[in-house]
Amino acid sequence: MYIETVKKNMKLPKTVRILDTTLRDGEQTPGVAMTVDEKIRIAQRLDKLGVDTIEVAFPVSSPGEREVAREIHKLNLNSNVCGLARALKKDVDAAIDCDVDYIHTFIGTSPLHRKYKLKMGKEEILSKAVDTVEYIKDHGITAEFSAEDATRTEFDYLKKVYGAVEDAGVDYIDVPDTVGVMIPSSMNYLISELKKDIKVPIGVHCHDDFGLAVANSLSAVEAGAEQVHATINGLGERAGNASLEEVVMALITRYGIKMNIKTELLVSISEFVSRITGVKMPPNKAIVGDNAFAHEAGIHVHGVLQKAETYEPITPEMVGHTRRIVLGKLTGANAIKAKLDKYGIELNDQQFEKVFNQIKGLGDRGKCITDADLKSMAENVLGKA
Ligand code: KIV
Ligand code: ZN
Repeated sequence: MYIETVKKNMKLPKTVRILDTTLRDGEQTPGVAMTVDEKIRIAQRLDKLGVDTIEVAFPVSSPGEREVAREIHKLNLNSNVCGLARALKKDVDAAIDCDVDYIHTFIGTSPLHRKYKLKMGKEEILSKAVDTVEYIKDHGITAEFSAEDATRTEFDYLKKVYGAVEDAGVDYIDVPDTVGVMIPSSMNYLISELKKDIKVPIGVHCHDDFGLAVANSLSAVEAGAEQVHATINGLGERAGNASLEEVVMALITRYGIKMNIKTELLVSISEFVSRITGVKMPPNKAIVGDNAFAHEAGIHVHGVLQKAETYEPITPEMVGHTRRIVLGKLTGANAIKAKLDKYGIELNDQQFEKVFNQIKGLGDRGKCITDADLKSMAENVLGKA
């Protein structure tokens, strides 16, 4: 209702591409390292999920990374297979050697990166960016360029660098919020300003240092960005990247944007990546967390049992999840009756009241009540225990 009103002032693209970087930035999650085989299995699932591009590796960095890129290329996936490369010929060569069909090249542009990391001036950085894009295009490969730390780079210089790589033939421009310093309104402003001059598709790569990666990505799309970098479960360097499942579900259901993603696979890929990486999702994680479609308060359960939309913004089936009714001190009679029905247990009013009071008592003592607890309480009052 309210979204329809504000949407009129947005410059939403018809569709948004997803570049998944679970296998590259996601592997930069402290404590996470994946084997070649694990990366291949994740890439196969990402392809089934329908992401446009999979950033599979940073080929120059190790033989294992090169093997990943080569093996994933051989799978003939529908998704583009992308390798990361600094704006250096040897990095690009390493990626080309692995036969990737898409190279994402980057160089730091902010004053901090220029002075302390690269120790280079503005012109030198600009010409490295241009030379690298030209080199990639000379090999007939799709090129994406990121100005690392774009969101802390002087606007005029940033625009100059992006304009120069566009002239050099770049296919996609990416705006990394490398340390997650943007807020949604500043991201919206930056993308709107860049869109005035840049004609190739613009994407964003948002980090979650302030918990704003998804909001900033969406805000960029509102300003016309056509691509979002994201990772399954929001994995990534430090606090991570924009979570793919959250970005995708918001774009499809809040903005009405058409995407190629098979959303019903989101929960299973989230669980798969969690098992492989060992990074567990908090139960209250949006979309894929265990509690995303769990209802406890009596008022909520009553509402959901009448009409799920009362307390669910989307159906669990849409993302491959299941609805759960949880028993606790806030549980109402409707929830307990629904569960007893589910297990084919019939209680008279007196028996029901006994079970109801036991649940409330346990809940008040801070206990969680499982379905197994409920069944054994019911069997007790029926004298079957
Ligand atoms: O966060 C970042 O800036 C990156 C670059 C490689 C694009 O991951
Ligand atoms: Zn990053």
